[in-house]
Amino acid sequence: MRVNGTAWRTIWPEDDGRAVGIIDQTRLPHAFETLRLTSMEAAAHAISAMLVRGAPLIGATAAWGVALAMAEDASDTGLERAYAVLVATRPTAINLRWALDTMKARLAPLSPAERPAAARAHAAAICDEDVALNEAIGSNGLEVIRSLYATKGGTGTFNILTHCNAGWLATVDWGTALAPIYKAHDAGLPIHVWVDETRPRNQGASLTAWELNSHGVPHTVIVDNAGGHYMQHGQVDMVIVGTDRTTAQGDVCNKIGTYLKALAAHDNNVPFYVALPGPTIDWTVNDGVKEIPIEERSQAEVTRLWGRTEDGALTWVTVTPKGSPAANPAFDVTPARLITGLITERGVCPASAEGLRGLYA
Ligand code: MRU
Repeated sequence: MRVNGTAWRTIWPEDDGRAVGIIDQTRLPHAFETLRLTSMEAAAHAISAMLVRGAPLIGATAAWGVALAMAEDASDTGLERAYAVLVATRPTAINLRWALDTMKARLAPLSPAERPAAARAHAAAICDEDVALNEAIGSNGLEVIRSLYATKGGTGTFNILTHCNAGWLATVDWGTALAPIYKAHDAGLPIHVWVDETRPRNQGASLTAWELNSHGVPHTVIVDNAGGHYMQHGQVDMVIVGTDRTTAQGDVCNKIGTYLKALAAHDNNVPFYVALPGPTIDWTVNDGVKEIPIEERSQAEVTRLWGRTEDGALTWVTVTPKGSPAANPAFDVTPARLITGLITERGVCPASAEGLRGLYA
């Protein structure tokens, strides 16, 4: 995507893949800063500290982490160690394990001498594939939006609500939930996006709003609890979110609060779509609520807020009384029955085992 006229991806090779560039997402929207990762440990830190985040980008960064590891130690032990360190960075997004399994399957049969170059090529291919998948999701999602807009009569503003950030910053490029929104806007459809702020880390307020602002897509940031109100008042025509892990039955694990939006959408007959690429499907999990590990993050993300003061300084402020504990589950699971459809690179299907099998035989 373009930022101030320059085309960016969220991750790119430098020095022929001996280093990797990323956008430090912890600085947005206040500053657009890039960083250079030169070791597997730095890639692991970038994922766990959320300098990069979003399921597909976590996977892409892990793939490059393996490539950086192979430049230092391409032995079997080096490969195993890279896998073990990187897979432990964040527990919920399945793209992480998918990318690591893909890298391992391709590198393990090779000799150590062949691995560094092969690892760079495979990491680059995973990134290119992610871009292609997301663009296809965008095209398929655009048709869903067109059709819902036509059902609405084809006049007036079409209001889409999204939660968290499933835009280009969460992937290598395009995004998943935001790809159809970009395509609809570029096609001239009168889109307006309700952006859930997405406490506690504010990926909506900080990242989705920044993306939409940069692209000129009309949007409004709302507190996480406002979506139901707007649905009751007919001001949400559709919800589109991303996912960190989709089960074989079509349950969707995404940023905490997604489930409540799905319940509100169900109660108000608002179509609720989830956009995902194939690598986000975990075919080994059947019951999302019982089986998907939910990341529990630091209490400090709940008790404090991060932002810019009037005089431009970046700072934390505490919002809870001393002594009040906080809990911070980072994701929740939306059961398939609350989902209108899954928008994938292969087409749109019902959120069900049959629907997914129909596309991914
Ligand atoms: O904790 P994050 O910021 O990594 O969570 C991101 C999300 O929940 C996204 O909605 C999800 O990864 C889909 S990204 C295309």
